[in-house]
Amino acid sequence: MQDNKSGRLAGKVALITGAASGIGRATAALFHGQGAKVVATDRNEAGLKALGSDADLVLAQDVTDEARWREVVDAVLAAFGRLDILVNSAGIGVLGNIEQATLSDWRKVNAVNVEGTFLGCREAVRAMKESGGGSIVNLSSVAGVIGDASSAAYCASKGAVRLLTKSAALHCARAGYKIRVNSVHPSFAETPMVLEGIARAKDPERVRAGLARAAPMGRMGKAEEVANTILFLASDESSFTTGGEFMVDGGLTAQ
Ligand SMILES: NC(=O)c1ccc[n+]([C@@H]2O[C@H](COP(=O)([O-])OP(=O)(O)OC[C@H]3O[C@@H](n4cnc5c(N)ncnc54)[C@H](O)[C@@H]3O)[C@@H](O)[C@H]2O)c1
Repeated sequence: MQDNKSGRLAGKVALITGAASGIGRATAALFHGQGAKVVATDRNEAGLKALGSDADLVLAQDVTDEARWREVVDAVLAAFGRLDILVNSAGIGVLGNIEQATLSDWRKVNAVNVEGTFLGCREAVRAMKESGGGSIVNLSSVAGVIGDASSAAYCASKGAVRLLTKSAALHCARAGYKIRVNSVHPSFAETPMVLEGIARAKDPERVRAGLARAAPMGRMGKAEEVANTILFLASDESSFTTGGEFMVDGGLTAQ
């Protein structure tokens, strides 16, 4: 743990969505330890309280709400005068192959995963270009790179995040904004999203073992391992990296 004057994110202001749980929560703790001012948002307000001193400001936010995005970014600017980092971690998973998926599930998952990320990128660019640059990290998934038969709508949403990231990165680079935009692609990581799915299965131990076997490294990932990659992309250490896609998948997509 380091104070706000030192660390790999010293002096930076970071906004993290989905910060009440899983990868967002681990990222908030890591960023705080690396000297960032952390603004944590989520629609789960009780979960945000559990962040304690890892967050300098907590704000209730549904990422699908366009007007709320503007209020949240304005609140960050009012509190800290700048926004340097946005991590779009809020997301939901919906199971269902192409025969089972309902239009309602499709709209729900795309509203959060795609529209939420789109709105976040747009608002962050508005703020970051005023203060001379920044870094945006979008949570996609291995399911945004390779197909998964059991989650048609989720795959579509994460594929959209992957290319939204590249489009935004190219625009910002060519406009000379010094704003970098990259995507992170975890495979199965032990977060509430995955663990709750395992618990709901008919044979949880079988499902858990199957998810572990899916990665050549033979285990699931941890939220902290994903957060470490996010930290690299958020920090100035990745200063010439934009439009990139970063697997945190134990080798799953290398096959
Ligand atoms: N855990 C994995 O294995 C895994 C794998 C690939 C990708 N991802 C992606 O990483 C991101 C984080 O996942 P996680 O595993 O930490 O999940 P999680 O369920 O533990 O946390 C997600 C958080 O997002 C919040 N959220 C959901 N909908 C929201 C909305 N409309 N507005 C605001 N907040 C909302 C939830 O309240 C929750 O706190 C997601 O985008 C997910 O799709 C996760």
